[in-house]
Amino acid sequence: MLINANRSTSITLTSNWIYVAKLGKVKYLDISRARQLFPMLRTHVYLNNASTSPCPTPVRSAMAEAMEKWTTDAHVYESWMDNLQETKALFSELIGAKKEEIAGITNTSTGLSIVANMLPYKKGSNVVINDMEFPANTYPWLNLKRRGVEVRVVKNVGGRIRLKDLEEAVDDHTAALSISHVEFSNGFRNDLKAISEIVHRHGATFVVDAIQSAGALEIDVRRQGVDFLATSFHKWLLGPEGTGFLYVREELIDEFDPWATGWLAVENPEDFDSMNLNFSKTAQKFETGTHNLLGYVGAKAALEIFHDIGMSDVERRILDLSGRLLEELEGLKVDIVTTKEERYRSGIVNFKVPEVDRVLEGLARRNIVVSKRTGGIRVSPHFFNVEDELQQLCRAVKELSE
Ligand SMILES: Cc1ncc(COP(=O)(O)O)c(C=O)c1O
Repeated sequence: MLINANRSTSITLTSNWIYVAKLGKVKYLDISRARQLFPMLRTHVYLNNASTSPCPTPVRSAMAEAMEKWTTDAHVYESWMDNLQETKALFSELIGAKKEEIAGITNTSTGLSIVANMLPYKKGSNVVINDMEFPANTYPWLNLKRRGVEVRVVKNVGGRIRLKDLEEAVDDHTAALSISHVEFSNGFRNDLKAISEIVHRHGATFVVDAIQSAGALEIDVRRQGVDFLATSFHKWLLGPEGTGFLYVREELIDEFDPWATGWLAVENPEDFDSMNLNFSKTAQKFETGTHNLLGYVGAKAALEIFHDIGMSDVERRILDLSGRLLEELEGLKVDIVTTKEERYRSGIVNFKVPEVDRVLEGLARRNIVVSKRTGGIRVSPHFFNVEDELQQLCRAVKELSE
């Protein structure tokens, strides 16, 4: 267990402990023990969770055990199918949804493509995206141009997507607005609830790419008015590649039909003689065929870590670390691209330095793992990172920039 209750009464964050007051009790996340779950941290300052996360040992063990079972157990498939259902349940709890609203998908792009392709478009229909989206949430919508759909691209202003610009772009002919909860490059956090109100006022569908927030920030799809949400596991959610989920608001399951289908999409997938296409009443309707079941074994083990710690504590820790990093960067000669305004912040910080490639090479030589996005250095700490690592990064950037 990473959590112990009733340990102390102080509420503070240091590099080793996080104390959180909850329901009158105090619990703490033992960061030193949490770090033991990530062997990679012994050799690397890993600050690249917006790209892919290091594999936690419970994920490795669960998958290794499943691999072993695969070689000996003739019925391993059944237990893996049960595991998928359990993984859906854990994920649905994490985002304030029901298990029946979750479909298994291989990645975010697929989830967004499923949605883009099944919405009804009429002559004159438009969809709204913006110019800060990752291609996973751009191409599925641009692909609709061939069908005569107008794609409206809202321009960012100083790295922000402004509500008033979205409001101007959406009208009664808008079929959907699709946006990232957190923008991949500078970490700008979009206000999902406020955007959903704009979208729904015009009867349009609200679609969210949550890959940069799921596992980092709290999500509540009901409260935030989300209609569809897609994510994969390999970033903040600490799971394997090739596993993901699509949330479909339950009222929409019956309303939309999938553009691609397969044997798993129906009410009774084991009725192999059926010649009737009876779609499932759950979001399984949007699945096709065999899943990456071994991957979901890892995904479930990863979700258990988040449930153990609690998503609000994970978010608090990540925002604290990214906030500290912003403060540290203030003292350096760098151009901070990410906003410092609390409500728009996330786990991603981006800053620009002269000769960025030379600085990145120097960081890589020091085993400090970050990435380059839109010409800047993107840093993305997770709950297991500590302030000392942020300071190491800043010292290295200072030395390399001199
Ligand atoms: C915002 C965003 N969406 C989607 C993806 C990836 O999508 P997929 O899960 O399809 O690989 C990324 C990063 O790789 C991303 O940053």
